[in-house]
Amino acid sequence: MNQSINSPFRYAGGKFYARKLILEYIPYHVSYVEPFAGGASIFFAKAKSLQNWINDIDKDVVNVYIHIRDYPEQLASALSEEVATKERHEFYKNQFIPQNDLERAIRWYYLNRTSYSGIMNMKNCYWGYGEKYSMRPENWGKNIFRTSDKLQKVKITNLDFEQVIDGAEDGAFLFIDPPYFNADQDKFYSHSFSKEDHFRLQGILLKHRHRVNFLLTYDNCIEIKNMYKWANSINEKEWNYTINRTDDQKLTQQVKNGKIVNGTPKKGSRSMGKEIFIINYDIEVTSSSFYQLSLML
Ligand SMILES: C[S@@+](CC[C@H](N)C(=O)[O-])C[C@H]1O[C@@H](n2cnc3c(N)ncnc32)[C@H](O)[C@@H]1O
Repeated sequence: MNQSINSPFRYAGGKFYARKLILEYIPYHVSYVEPFAGGASIFFAKAKSLQNWINDIDKDVVNVYIHIRDYPEQLASALSEEVATKERHEFYKNQFIPQNDLERAIRWYYLNRTSYSGIMNMKNCYWGYGEKYSMRPENWGKNIFRTSDKLQKVKITNLDFEQVIDGAEDGAFLFIDPPYFNADQDKFYSHSFSKEDHFRLQGILLKHRHRVNFLLTYDNCIEIKNMYKWANSINEKEWNYTINRTDDQKLTQQVKNGKIVNGTPKKGSRSMGKEIFIINYDIEVTSSSFYQLSLML
């Protein structure tokens, strides 16, 4: 299966709304790698390559991907009777203690689909399901099977990014979407990403710049622009995205441009994503690029 589909997850910092813009920049390649996969919006949106590798340091998200790829029946069947309620959310969050990897996957999938913005860091994981905006439990099974098809033969690992970039094939294309430089990412993710990690990433990309092609996305800040002066180009990009209000009126946080800020979002309010795309290759961005033609977005 090589169709463009949506990520199976709701994911903080996910690139769902930027996917068309990003696809325009992707050059021809046969080996595709996402070292910071998260919800892997770009992998799911693009046509599959001959070789595909998604990776994340978060062992729980990787465990769910592996179950979706290899055991979709078990996962879908375990979730088939579920209902999306605050009580079940509370149960999975605070009472259910998984006894094996399948149960860990069930818990993660349930909480991801029913929590505000899919935030899975337990300190900030709140009920956030809305009948109008969220995928209903009766559709979860279909979502799991469709995702499973796309994940067949995809390499899925739980490593630090450095090992992945070192291990990428010569000539591979890497879509690199690390946590933001200037945002309190500890609120979203299970692993913190320090300033040293940002410098480490820069060092490893510099080392491999003649061996692989990469598109790196970051928050638009001077520190990052200075760090990547050696890249072929740094492109400032903007796109619209929608914040969907859930039916939880007590919610006092919203995710804006990769940050949690105070205040309840207005229903369906629009916001602007602003990032930089850093690339180490030359590309003419046209509406008829290879990937534009191969996609059915
Ligand atoms: C901005 S998110 C990626 C979002 C993704 N592009 C999407 O569309 O959903 C960054 C991801 O990097 C992961 N991460 C953080 N530190 C990492 C590390 N040292 N190595 C690999 N992944 C890491 C986080 O767990 C998180 O899933």
